[in-house]
Amino acid sequence: MNSQLKTIRTVAELRRDLACARRAGQTVGLVPTMGALHDGHLSLVRRARAESDLVVMSVFVNPTQFGPGEDLDRYPRAEERDAELAGAAGVDILFAPGVREVYPDGFATTVRVAGLADRLCGVQRGAGHFDGVATVVTKLLNMVGPDTAYFGQKDAQQAAVISRVVRDLDIPVRIEVCPTVREPDGLAMSSRNTHLDGAARARAVGLSRALDAAVRAAGDGERDPQAVGLLARRELAAYEIEPEYVELVSPQTLEPAADLDGPVLVAVAARIGGTRLIDNVILEPHELDDVILEPHELDETAPHQQEARRAG
Ligand code: PAJ
Repeated sequence: MNSQLKTIRTVAELRRDLACARRAGQTVGLVPTMGALHDGHLSLVRRARAESDLVVMSVFVNPTQFGPGEDLDRYPRAEERDAELAGAAGVDILFAPGVREVYPDGFATTVRVAGLADRLCGVQRGAGHFDGVATVVTKLLNMVGPDTAYFGQKDAQQAAVISRVVRDLDIPVRIEVCPTVREPDGLAMSSRNTHLDGAARARAVGLSRALDAAVRAAGDGERDPQAVGLLARRELAAYEIEPEYVELVSPQTLEPAADLDGPVLVAVAARIGGTRLIDNVILEPHELDDVILEPHELDETAPHQQEARRAG
């Protein structure tokens, strides 16, 4: 437990504390979140803790990235529990500003990443979602001025958008994208998983199963992105999941992948029992032979393929 955890609510106080740390030569790691912390968030903190002298976590449910009719009002909030978990994982400063502190009267600027914001989740949620993300993350980077900021691969499009903003606007920060943390059955951890009832929770595992199917197909030598996508869709159908999208794209540009010769992001989104979930995996051509499959997947793999995998 980090008994030193300090909660700060204003930019002025945050800047004062960070200026102090800077003078003392400390490096700063930032983990931006919307709270309702789970082990996915905490994995980012642990990484930041290992690489920085001072770890700042922001907790801010950013209204500008929720569209009309989205779940801003029912987004889970748990500030006390978040502070406990953050402290225990090694956060030094919890920055939890109010909406007015981040968006004061007269606020009028939007950071918009043309192209990247319109694809995948941008189609259903509207590009305004990623405008909201890009704008608030730009602000957080300017408020904190971290050496490194940590994001999750779980939100692959968000990571692509933020990486583009940082390059395009010359923001002096290193962006680290950390692996997706999953529940034991494969479901990607998400604050929204708390909304799933028993039946929806059982079906939700279909998302990661569909990605497993894509990895298996590519590992077995399928080279056609459309065919891989089709297998993923078939797996989703087995869980009665009608996806918003299943796409195979470049992880950086999010343009459709023409082949599987380079890294390809397989991204899925679906509404399950009223809750919108996303997940993804990156197919790395040189790694496909070494993909570590979980026991349940090995059972479904033909014996000769298991042999080949062990031999390889
Ligand atoms: P939030 O959904 O709270 O996620 C905060 C960070 O945790 C993001 O970088 C996200 O990708 C990462 N994360 C979430 N689930 C994860 C998992 N299962 N494994 C690994 N990392 C995971 O993403 C946001 O908040 C907001 O859009 C934000 C960037 C804070 C801007 O408002």
